Amino acid sequence: MNDGLQSWLGAQIDGLKRDNLYKVPKILESAAGGRVRMNGKEVVNLASNNYLGLANHPKVRQAAIDAIEKWGVGAGAVRWIGGTMSVHQELEERLAKFKHVEAVLVFTSGFTANSGCIPAVLTDKDVVISDELNHASIIDGVRLSPARYKKSEGYVYSHKDMTHLESILKNTQSFEKRMIITDGVFSMDGDIAPLPDIVKLAEQYNAFVMVDDAHASGVLGKNGAGSTSHFNLYGRVDIQLGTLSKALGVVGGYIAGSALLKDWLINRGRPYLFSTAHPPMVAAALIAALDVMETDPEPMRRLWDNTKRWKAMLQAEGFDTMGSETPITPVYIGDEGEAQAFERALWDAGVYAICIVYPTVAKGKSRIRTMPSAAHTDEDLDFALKAFIKAREQTHVASVH
Ligand SMILES: Cc1ncc(COP(=O)(O)O)c(C=O)c1O
Repeated sequence: MNDGLQSWLGAQIDGLKRDNLYKVPKILESAAGGRVRMNGKEVVNLASNNYLGLANHPKVRQAAIDAIEKWGVGAGAVRWIGGTMSVHQELEERLAKFKHVEAVLVFTSGFTANSGCIPAVLTDKDVVISDELNHASIIDGVRLSPARYKKSEGYVYSHKDMTHLESILKNTQSFEKRMIITDGVFSMDGDIAPLPDIVKLAEQYNAFVMVDDAHASGVLGKNGAGSTSHFNLYGRVDIQLGTLSKALGVVGGYIAGSALLKDWLINRGRPYLFSTAHPPMVAAALIAALDVMETDPEPMRRLWDNTKRWKAMLQAEGFDTMGSETPITPVYIGDEGEAQAFERALWDAGVYAICIVYPTVAKGKSRIRTMPSAAHTDEDLDFALKAFIKAREQTHVASVH
């Protein structure tokens, strides 16, 4: 072991602890659901992205079991070398129909879909114009590209500020290609991007649009087809990213767009080229998850009923849910230390919801992020509200009093 590295690591961790930014993951000891067993205790789980409860849906589980019987557990290679099975291909065809696009390419995660697609479609003659609250995987994907993108150079627009976006579009006309990129639903605030306005500006200024629908998939649009469906913008969004890890309940990410885009990414999307394909059971489970989404409206109805009820309950008690419009429901705290104390008090009261602090959000803008889902019962949410009230009494956090 290298002493220099070890002492550097120790100092970094001490710094995180000092700044209340240090995290220790809890251990989930049961299947995903509204109520779970975690660190030896039964709690209401408000931290999962399992929006529709599909992570443990009987049809999705059975499809995975059947696929293991048929295919075994591994794909054996990266996809272009020999890892693409017919079940992978079937999943992409199903997703393309679901999204009303020519073609879909699946990556092993949403994160790698961003880091595979964004650098592949940009050169050093291009610019990326980005919302300031875009997800870390977008930012990392952009950093891997040779295009210009920096906030300090004026290419990041204030959150959802269309006047600012337009002024950047006016100032960047000399670039060869211009990509406007946004979350469809912002992952830490739960608000929805003004996609119709973004698309209109892109069309006016000859830019192209990429939307990251990780938190819109399964949540917005027809049967959960995402923000392009929600806003009826079929055919007008050049690149859509979806995740298969959240509402669809399994794991993976995909890029939806033209057949040419798919062809290019098969040839130049580095995580596709250099990382092994999903196990076939993942693809089979995802096909079953799509079957459920397309034929059973109940999980989405329950998700939205719970979302509306949960927000109304919190707001009636005076909690600040920060303008969230979707199931992602932040409760504003502010200070990092107070957010951590609030998270601990919730845990003591039987609720698992985590505080989101820097660098996921800006310093001083900490919040408890709660995620109601189709898997929660009314009793779960009633119980959770009581825990929030109790935590407020115990912690004396100024912003929630
Ligand atoms: C907006 C956004 N994009 C991409 C991802 C990454 O998706 P995955 O978890 O499938 O890697 C996330 C995950 O948190 C996200 O919130």
